[in-house]
Amino acid sequence: MYSKFIRPLLFLLNPEQVHHLTIRLLRLLDAIPGMRWIIRQLFAYHGPSLEKEVLGMKFPNPIGLAAGFDKNAEIPDMLGAFGFGFVEVGAITPKPQPGNPKPRLFRLPKDRAIINRMGFNNRGMEYAIANLRRRKGNLIVGANIGKNSATPNECAGNDYLKLFRSLYEYVDYFVVNVSCPNVADITELQNKAYISQILEPFFEFRRGQNQYRPVLVKISPDLTWEQIDEIIDVLMNTPLDGLVATNTTSSRKGLTSSEKQVEAIGNGGLSGAPLTDRAIEVIRYLYEKTEGRYPIIGVGGIMTPEDALAMLRAGADLVQVYTGMIYEGPGFVRNICRTLEAEGGSQRPYHTFPHA
Ligand SMILES: Cc1cc2nc3c(=O)[nH]c(=O)nc-3n(C[C@H](O)[C@H](O)[C@H](O)COP(=O)(O)O)c2cc1C
Repeated sequence: MYSKFIRPLLFLLNPEQVHHLTIRLLRLLDAIPGMRWIIRQLFAYHGPSLEKEVLGMKFPNPIGLAAGFDKNAEIPDMLGAFGFGFVEVGAITPKPQPGNPKPRLFRLPKDRAIINRMGFNNRGMEYAIANLRRRKGNLIVGANIGKNSATPNECAGNDYLKLFRSLYEYVDYFVVNVSCPNVADITELQNKAYISQILEPFFEFRRGQNQYRPVLVKISPDLTWEQIDEIIDVLMNTPLDGLVATNTTSSRKGLTSSEKQVEAIGNGGLSGAPLTDRAIEVIRYLYEKTEGRYPIIGVGGIMTPEDALAMLRAGADLVQVYTGMIYEGPGFVRNICRTLEAEGGSQRPYHTFPHA
């Protein structure tokens, strides 16, 4: 139904407009009493075998919605009704910012991919907090946090700390986004010295709190193995809780869309099917190097339930989807959950160290 009728219609429209319309429609639906329940009956898939404990939290299933869809935390619980085990909102920056000039979101249907250079467009921390405050529901919600584009890297720590402290009581976990290819120079923050500088005040603040909020760092698939080793070093030598791998890629390797089309689009992060193999490769590397001792959220190019399984087998404890949902529609999470249940559920050790 979705791929035969709805997707072809939606793909006739401007991608960013479709995104805004979707958010607006879901907000309207969310205002109707009982609508979340109906959506849950239609789309969510429940099963005790799908539950999984990671990062000290009990997830109803290990499939999450990746950052970038609900940037302003407007409808996390409504999105949860589609069957997600958790939803990551953001990227949220301290001050509101418009992001990059439009157009900045493009589909590559031949590659089952998306290119975006949104540039952390969002309505700022206060707006997100107001939305999170109004929440009713017990869905696990994470905050993906980023610095404002105007903040130089030397002062980035202040932006991240402000976000961490202000959002602390409203979300269940944090993802420090230093891997977005669309914010000038931000990926330099993946360097060990910068990332340690950003994280240290987080841990100090957290030590004084009653509630424990796990902190993860989201990394780029474009890092070299040496750069990934630096991040692993931080993971193993600080109270950092885990990693999210990966963000979108700047690479354009292996695309079947015409070179002319890809060139005309220009810069941006590529997501979807062309990213699958690299994301899995990075996850496998992280898993092997850390001997499976740290939680990994796997994301990047999950376009089929089998991709999700492959990511779990490579070492991910939880996975997230974004582009796959755009191509496969609202029943995508249910399909992944069904496959996972048929494979023996979530607690099954999909990965054991060392890999066979
Ligand atoms: C339009 C769009 C906006 C995104 N915005 C963010 C963001 O704000 N923060 C972030 O960490 N990742 C962001 N991402 C990256 C996704 O969270 C995810 O890491 C990436 O798309 C790879 O997963 P996928 O292939 O399943 O889409 C965005 C992706 C897309 C397509």
